[in-house]
Amino acid sequence: MVCRGGDCGSRHKHPDIDHRRQLEVLRAAAIEGGGRVVASRCLDACDHSNVVVLIPASQELANGEAPVWIGQCNDDLSTHEIAAWLTRGGPGVTPQPVAVEVQRFHPSRANRHELEEELT
Ligand code: FES
Repeated sequence: MVCRGGDCGSRHKHPDIDHRRQLEVLRAAAIEGGGRVVASRCLDACDHSNVVVLIPASQELANGEAPVWIGQCNDDLSTHEIAAWLTRGGPGVTPQPVAVEVQRFHPSRANRHELEEELT
């Protein structure tokens, strides 16, 4: 899930990143890893923008793996670290890269609610 609400994906807030290119890179990586990318509306975590949430596959979810919320995805390095993890299968399949761990944050109840709304 790649947030493209009012703050994420905005050239006003993050003028130095090519938001469209970021979405393309993540989409290609997700497909290569057997997943997909959905652009969402605001996930109520704007302080962390740009926000990307990696949602494990159903088997990994059943095994207790939780969605991984990643903030400050505002440069090519972080985009490519996430993309590389996606191509290797992502959460629950291969270990979390250190760069992702650094940018990971714990979602609030409001964040999780917005994500659930997006998934329904
Ligand atoms: S615009 Fe992405 S969390 Fe609000």
